[in-house]
Amino acid sequence: MRYAALNQGADSLASFDGFIPANIPTFNKLPNPSDPIAVGGRYSDEQLYALALYIYSLKPPPNPNKFDAAAARGQKVFANEGCTRCHTPPLYTNNKLTPAPGFTVPEDARAKYDISSVSVGTDPSLATNTRRGTGYYKVPSIKGVWYRSMFGHSGWCATLEDWFDPKRLNDDYVPTGFKPYNVKTFAVKGHTFGLDLTPQEKQDLIAFLKTL
Ligand code: HEC
Repeated sequence: MRYAALNQGADSLASFDGFIPANIPTFNKLPNPSDPIAVGGRYSDEQLYALALYIYSLKPPPNPNKFDAAAARGQKVFANEGCTRCHTPPLYTNNKLTPAPGFTVPEDARAKYDISSVSVGTDPSLATNTRRGTGYYKVPSIKGVWYRSMFGHSGWCATLEDWFDPKRLNDDYVPTGFKPYNVKTFAVKGHTFGLDLTPQEKQDLIAFLKTL
């Protein structure tokens, strides 16, 4: 909810040397305190709290994937490969930030934020070249990957099989999910974990991931 507040506020503050990215007619209007949803406004703490309670009340769909022998083998692969270092049960994330390649972590930041000592090498564009870029990516929870698609920060890979395909590191790779504008091929760099498994191990790992 802090992020919701930040995003609403960021729109009215964003000005790059006079260039205002969303300079639509209503953009510069000062927020009307009696209308917190107006552009440039901010939800009240009460509204954000209520929104948080609503999100907590949502239930995920029942998982049709059973924890079978393949999933049990995959769980071992998950542990042996050190995935739990970052995707730590029960949330399957350690909730840490990981610096994007090329971003230098400011000296005081490590004391303030939970920053991982390693960068996983994700394409830094969104973290460093966009107006809301912070220099970091966050370790995502991998609960519910069975009903999600479009993996990787920009959703380059449509399936888990593609996410764990070592060919995605090559410059001639054609992403199965989002393709950056005006390119035919794109190397989905970074997160090399699990890319050198045998086909059987990979199948088992994915069977396990789909039970989360
Ligand atoms: C050093 C920390 C780290 C380790 C170790 C790690 N991951 Fe990740 N994982 C991340 C980060 C950070 C991302 C987000 C990367 C991105 O968006 O490009 C991620 C993304 C993913 C995703 C895609 C999630 C999504 O919604 O897009 C899956 C699936 C995944 N990891 C599974 C694994 C598995 C399986 C292993 C072990 C073989 C593993 N990870 C090891 C940090 C880690």
